[in-house]
Amino acid sequence: MTAAHRGTILLVDDEEKILKTLGRALRDAGHAVVETTNPREAQRLLAERAFDLLVVDNVMPQLSGLDLIREYVSSTAESERSQIVMMTAHATVESAIEAMKLGALDYLQKPFEIDELLVVARRALDHQRLTSEYRYLRTERDEQFGNYGIVGRSRVMRDIIDRAERVAQTKSTVLITGETGTGKELVARAIHNRSAQREMPLIKVNCAAIPETLLESELFGHVRGAFTGATTTKKGKFALADGGTIFLDEIGTMSPALQAKLLRVLQEREFEPLGAERTERVDVRVIAATNRDLRQMVAEGKFQEDLFYRLNVIPIALPPLRERPEDIPALVDHFVRKHAQRTGRRIDGIADGVVAALQQYTWPGNVRELENTIERAVVLSPGTTITADAVSVIGATSAPASGLPSLRLRQNIEWVEKETIRRALERSGGVKKEAAESMGISQRALSYYLAKYRID
Ligand SMILES: Nc1ncnc2c1ncn2[C@@H]1O[C@H](COP(=O)(O)OP(=O)(O)O)[C@@H](O)[C@H]1O
Ligand SMILES: [Mg+2]
Repeated sequence: MTAAHRGTILLVDDEEKILKTLGRALRDAGHAVVETTNPREAQRLLAERAFDLLVVDNVMPQLSGLDLIREYVSSTAESERSQIVMMTAHATVESAIEAMKLGALDYLQKPFEIDELLVVARRALDHQRLTSEYRYLRTERDEQFGNYGIVGRSRVMRDIIDRAERVAQTKSTVLITGETGTGKELVARAIHNRSAQREMPLIKVNCAAIPETLLESELFGHVRGAFTGATTTKKGKFALADGGTIFLDEIGTMSPALQAKLLRVLQEREFEPLGAERTERVDVRVIAATNRDLRQMVAEGKFQEDLFYRLNVIPIALPPLRERPEDIPALVDHFVRKHAQRTGRRIDGIADGVVAALQQYTWPGNVRELENTIERAVVLSPGTTITADAVSVIGATSAPASGLPSLRLRQNIEWVEKETIRRALERSGGVKKEAAESMGISQRALSYYLAKYRID
C-alpha cells in the first residue's frame, strides 16, 4: 500500500526529540507525516490543507493541545475535519477526556509504546476513511433524492419539484392531490428526504386501508384496556413520527369524528391516546394526500372546512399523466432501466414507434400503470429490444394484434402476465428453462415472476 492510501498525519509536539521519533515510526508504517514543534504553525497548516489525522501533544508552551483542538473544531466544519488523537501525560488525563468531548477520537497516555501509537493511528485513519465513504454515499443518496427520484421534464413537473424543494426547507403542512398513480407518495417521500428531519422517521398511514374503528388507535395509540382487545399499550403513528413526518394517505376517506381529532393535532400539536388520561405533545410535519376533490367535499359537507384549510397550507397538485405526455419518454427510459436491472434482463433499446404509441394512451392508472406496463414489457420482450408486441401482449387475448391501441382495452395486466407464464410452463411441461426460453426471458426473470404470482 502506498503512503497516500495510509493517510496524511499532522504531528505536533514541542519536544523535538519525541517528534522525530514518532514521526519516523509513522513514516516507516507507510503514512505521510508533517511534523511541527509549534502549535501556531500547526494551526496555519490545518487551515491550509486537509489532514486525515491530527496527533497533538497537550502541554506546549505557546498553546495547549486542548486549546488547539478547541479552536480547530470550532473553526472547521465536521465534514472537513481530520480525526484527532491527543497525547497527554498522566497528570493531564482530564484534558484528554475534555479533548474527546470536543470530538477527539482517542488519546495516548505518555509514556506509550510506539506500537500503541501505530495501532491508534491506524484505527483513526480507518475511521476517517469510513466516515468519508459514508458521507460520500449519503451525498449520492441525497443527490438522487435531489432529483427526488422524480422523473419529469414537463413545465408542470419542474414547478412541482421546485415547490417540493422549497417546502422541504420548512415544516409546513402539505396537501398533495392527484389521481391514483400520479406520484403523490413519491413526492411526499421526496419532501421528507430533503428536509432537515430526514434522519427522523417518515411514517405512512393509509387512511383508506384501515377500518375506521381502528384508525383512531392507529393514529393516536391506546392504553391497555382502552377497548376490547387492547391487551397492551400501543404507540400511535403520530407518536412514532415525532420529530419527523407523518404521511396521511387517502385523507378524504377519514370519518367526521376523526377529522375533528386530526384538526386538533394540527392546531395544538397534541392529542390523547385512546383511554389515556394524559395528553401527548408531538412535533411532526403533516403531509396529507388524496385523489378526491376536498374542496368539493367541503361544499357537500363531507369534509370539515377548518381541517381543509389547515391541511391545504401548501397545496401540490399532481397532474394526470395524459396531460403531460412529454414526460413519458424519460419515464419509460427510467422504468426500463429499473426493471431490467431488477429482473436481470439486458435491454438495449425500444422498438421504433413504441414510445410514441405510449404517449397516445390515456393512462387511467397514470405513472403506476406505465411502470407496470414497462415492467411486463421488459420481461416479455424476446430479445434485447422492447417490442410493441411485448407492450401489448394483452392484445393477444383481447384485441387486434396491431398492438398498442389494445392497451385501452386492457382490464387486467397482471392476469395476462400470469396467464402468459402459466401457458408457457404448460407447453414446456413444467420445464422452467424451456418456458423461459420460449418467452425470451432469463430464468432469473421467470423465477421473479413465479414468486410474484406464487405459481409453482
Ligand atoms: N414522476 C415520477 N418519476 C418516477 N417515478 C414515478 C413518478 N411518478 C410516479 N412514479 C412511480 O409510480 C408509482 C406510483 O406512484 P405513487 O407515488 O405511489 O402514486 P400515488 O401515491 O399518487 O398513487 C411508484 O412506483 C412511483 O415511484
Ligand atoms: Mg398512493
